[in-house]
Amino acid sequence: MLSQQTVNIIKSTVPVLEVHGVAITTTFYKNLFEAHPELLNIFNHANQAKGRQQTALANTVYAAAVHIDNLAAIIPVVKQIGQKHVSLGIKPEHYPIVGEHLLGAIKEVLGDAATDEIINAWAEAYGVIADAFISVEEEMYVATESKTGGWRFFKDFVITNKVEESENITSFYMKPADGSVIPTYEPGQFITIRVSIPGEEYLMNRQYSLSKAADSESFRISVKKEDENNPEGKVSVHLHNNVFVGDTVELTAPAGDFVLDLEKTTPVTFISGGVGITPMMSMFESVAKNQSNRSVSFIYSARNENLHPFDKDIHALIETMEDAKYLALYSETGDGFITKDVLATSAIQNGDVYVCGPAGFMEAMINHLLELGYSLEQIHYEFFGPALQLELVNA
Ligand SMILES: Cc1cc2nc3c(=O)[nH]c(=O)nc-3n(C[C@H](O)[C@H](O)[C@H](O)COP(=O)(O)OP(=O)(O)OC[C@H]3O[C@@H](n4cnc5c(N)ncnc54)[C@H](O)[C@@H]3O)c2cc1C
Ligand code: HEM
Repeated sequence: MLSQQTVNIIKSTVPVLEVHGVAITTTFYKNLFEAHPELLNIFNHANQAKGRQQTALANTVYAAAVHIDNLAAIIPVVKQIGQKHVSLGIKPEHYPIVGEHLLGAIKEVLGDAATDEIINAWAEAYGVIADAFISVEEEMYVATESKTGGWRFFKDFVITNKVEESENITSFYMKPADGSVIPTYEPGQFITIRVSIPGEEYLMNRQYSLSKAADSESFRISVKKEDENNPEGKVSVHLHNNVFVGDTVELTAPAGDFVLDLEKTTPVTFISGGVGITPMMSMFESVAKNQSNRSVSFIYSARNENLHPFDKDIHALIETMEDAKYLALYSETGDGFITKDVLATSAIQNGDVYVCGPAGFMEAMINHLLELGYSLEQIHYEFFGPALQLELVNA
């Protein structure tokens, strides 16, 4: 337990730290990677370069600090972030390293204003917050590890099939290299793939949604190739160009809380754009296999026919279902974007809605749904990158 005096110091200094947010986080990451270059094997360099990840960690520490005397209030957020952490194999011993450099950065940026009293209070508070993360993540590791075929951290998988699904999306089927059982997973979950790319100094990790329902055969991910002429797009271009059947990659166990509840029988609508279709395929196939009489609507947006994966698969699944409808719109060559009017007629009002696609797409879809009278509790969405704050109406 923290003393009341420590709690008061923390709460009164949060606004000061927020003002210096960018300076503190920039200093923090610079010092962290200088002292621990091995951590560059874990962090996503593209997210770092674009600044999306930079503020997330420190802002969450400040947000948690505001609730330092009632950490139960932030456990849902800790669980959400914990899903990402366990999918990257973050370990308890990483926390003191991050803590040391976060405190060091606060001290460096605030200078004399950061008295010993303030720094000690923050060291104590960080310890409490880190413990909350460590215990939530340990529970998650134990749960995945204890499943049949489950494991902790990374495990070798062999590519058993590689299938082109559209002009820019290719699927990779994978089985454990040691011949062990494939664990079940919830529809919508993702894995992290770790690859060593020739010419790159560090290992690279990326998350990919599992794009089919769980079965005992294999995992499948479906990867959109980023622009090859761009110097970045590192992992997706590598997978498309250099990874073939028979090659080995490393995977973490399925994680993530953007999942379809197969206990529910209420209608469900899937709305996706571009490669955001991947978790929807896992969810849709799971409904077809387990709840073929559930009412489902599948709404998809691509730029054109050539960029539209899984069309035949969706039609084939629909044939096996009692009450499923499917609408695909082409923004460049067809009927345009998914509008509010489209959702008014194609989404099913009295059930859950799952949304996945680029951030701007999700923001537009969720705002249409809110305007149509859906509640935020009905709407579930996932970012294919660090979470961003969406500008939502009525929210
Ligand atoms: C939960 C989750 C699920 C996902 N599921 C899927 C999926 O099913 N299928 C899928 O294809 N993807 C999925 N992704 C996205 C995936 O993890 C990768 O982000 C994606 O494949 C791009 O990785 P990359 O290494 O090819 O590109 P990166 O090298 O990471 O680059 C990504 C983008 O950032 C830009 N960029 C890179 N460096 C800079 C810089 N210095 N300045 C400005 N811009 C820069 C690049 O041009 C590129 O457009 C998912 C992500 C998450 C978090
Ligand atoms: C209390 C301490 C920590 C907090 C509050 C925190 C918070 C966060 C948040 C908010 C995200 C973004 C989640 C998302 O939207 O994707 C994140 C991601 C991440 N965290 Fe943490 N984190 C903490 C500790 C750590 C530690 C100790 C490590 C390991 C060194 C770590 C490594 C990562 C990595 C690698 C990512 C993914 C970022 C990327 O590469 O894009 N974090 N963390």
